[in-house]
Amino acid sequence: MLELDRISFSVDEDGQEKDIIEDISLTIPDNKLVVITGPNGGGKSTMARLIAGIEKPISGRILFNGTDITQMSITDRAKMGIGFAFQQPVRFKGLQVLDLIRLATGRQITVAEACKYLSAVGLCARDYIDREVNASLSGGELKRIEIATILAKGSSLSIFDEPEAGIDLWSFQNLIEVFENMRRSIRGSSILIISHQERILNIADEIVVLRDGKIAAQGPREEILPTLIGTTSMMPACGKADPGAPKSETETGKGEQQA
Ligand SMILES: Nc1ncnc2c1ncn2[C@@H]1O[C@H](COP(=O)(O)OP(=O)(O)O)[C@@H](O)[C@H]1O
Ligand SMILES: [Mg+2]
Repeated sequence: MLELDRISFSVDEDGQEKDIIEDISLTIPDNKLVVITGPNGGGKSTMARLIAGIEKPISGRILFNGTDITQMSITDRAKMGIGFAFQQPVRFKGLQVLDLIRLATGRQITVAEACKYLSAVGLCARDYIDREVNASLSGGELKRIEIATILAKGSSLSIFDEPEAGIDLWSFQNLIEVFENMRRSIRGSSILIISHQERILNIADEIVVLRDGKIAAQGPREEILPTLIGTTSMMPACGKADPGAPKSETETGKGEQQA
């Protein structure tokens, strides 16, 4: 379980203090898939970076399974079971995909096992295992490789920042299945996804709407999703939503043309 206790974060912008996250308290329970959504610039990625330890809050505490991790490094948090996939993954020249997966897990996983994770994200593993993680990979490929590394880690809290970015229509359903399988297979784990995509919101247990650095709404999907459909919180990905039938959109596979 992850607990944010009155977290604030601000940056210095031309000598002026700019608040990015303002006094946010939030719990991500075990066994839950929580989706954070909200307009661009609302502070979603910053919140993910605070949880991963890339940024440190100016006030407040972060607790993971009861331990105060507020001052812990990224590496120590990762060791404790927090896995993080960037909105814009990093390329590593000279490193092969297999090395990247091994580095992420911290163990010598077999080629067969690595291939399993690549296949799960819709990549033909044989073609990718030896590829260098450099500019020759497309944004979507890189994104999927990063998701594969998170799967390989099997963290107890996995955070994905806009995993849909750069993912094509064919693999979108695949991506949803990846998350659903992950939820089933890692017992006691929780998943935090930052997304604008209605199909991802549709598999959430809970939805948090972040706007201007504050929580604008929070609750079970059944309660929050109907209030979001057709609003700017779901922009830019979900302009075609039908207010009455979010479920059937998922089932029929419509509504992602703009993804
Ligand atoms: N290190 C930083 N320096 C200056 N501004 C920042 C920094 N990090 C985030 N911001 C600003 O904070 C706001 C929230 O950004 P972000 O967390 O990326 O939002 P979101 O992911 O919801 O689109 C934006 O206005 C962004 O420009
Ligand atoms: Mg972002």
